[in-house]
Amino acid sequence: MTTSGPGQTYGGSSVTGGETYQAGHDDSTTAMDASVLSRAETTPLITEIREDLSVFDGIVDKARAIIARYPQSRSALLPMLHLVQSVQGYVSQAGIQFCARELELAPAEVSAVATFYTMYKRKPCGEHLVSVCTNTLCAALGGDEIYQTLREHLGEPGKPLGHEETAGTPGEPGSITIEHAECLAACDLGPVLQVNYEFYDNQTPEKAVELVDALRRGEKPAPTRGAPLTDFKDASLQLAGFFDRESDVEGPSQAAETLAGAQLAQDRGWTAPAMPANVAFPDLEKK
Ligand code: FES
Repeated sequence: MTTSGPGQTYGGSSVTGGETYQAGHDDSTTAMDASVLSRAETTPLITEIREDLSVFDGIVDKARAIIARYPQSRSALLPMLHLVQSVQGYVSQAGIQFCARELELAPAEVSAVATFYTMYKRKPCGEHLVSVCTNTLCAALGGDEIYQTLREHLGEPGKPLGHEETAGTPGEPGSITIEHAECLAACDLGPVLQVNYEFYDNQTPEKAVELVDALRRGEKPAPTRGAPLTDFKDASLQLAGFFDRESDVEGPSQAAETLAGAQLAQDRGWTAPAMPANVAFPDLEKK
C-alpha cells in the first residue's frame, strides 16, 4: 500500500488527503500508473442511495443456502460477496446493499470487508482476470517482466494497461483484466500467473502472451493444475461454494516440484523420528 500524504482509513484501505490511493502494492514499473482509484470511484461504496436489487433476484435461494451454513448469519459475508460478484463481475453498491439486507448488516459493515480484500473487485472485471505474481521470488525469476509485457501487449501503443484495468469491454467475451498479485503460494513453480485463480506455472513473457491471446480468441487453455478454466464470474460462484459440475473440482492438484523433497526422502529411505508420546505441551499463557 502506498500513500502520498496524511490520510484517513477506510475499509482497510488508506485514502490520501489528495485525490487517490493505490489499491495494491507499489508497482516497480511505474510510480503512478492506472492502479489508482479516484475518490469518485470509492465514494459510491459508502453512499446511502437505495439501489435496485432486482438484478440479484436469481440468487436469493443461493444466498439463503450460504447463510444456512453458519450459526451466525454475518459469518456468511465472504462467500456472499463472491456470490454477488458472480452476477455482476464485481461488488457493486447494489451488491453491497444486497449482502447487507440478507445478512442484516449495515452497508458500511459490508463495504468495510469488500474494500479490504483484493479478491472483491470494485470495478467491473473482464471475462477473465489474469493475476501475475510479482512478489519477490517470482519477480526475480521474471514475474515483473511478464507483468510489464502483458501490460504493454494488452494496452494501447504508449499506454500500457494498469493494475486492475481491462482490455476490451468488461464482461464481454474476450475481455481481460490484469492485476499484479502478491505471493500466490506457488513459489516452487515460479514465475506463476493465474487466470480466474487457476494456475499457469513456470511462465515466460512469451507463454503469457500466447495465453492471453488465446483467451481473447475465446479459447480456454488448460491450467497447469486444478480444474478446467471457466470465467471470472463462474469462478466467483465456485468461490461462493457452488460446484454444480463434476469438472468444477477435477484436475491434477499437485506438482512434481512441490513433492520433490518428499520424493527424495522416500527414494533414500529417510524418515523423521516419531514424536515421543509423552512430550508435554507448554503451558498456555493465561490472558
Ligand atoms: S513469489 Fe510468486 S508464488 Fe510465491
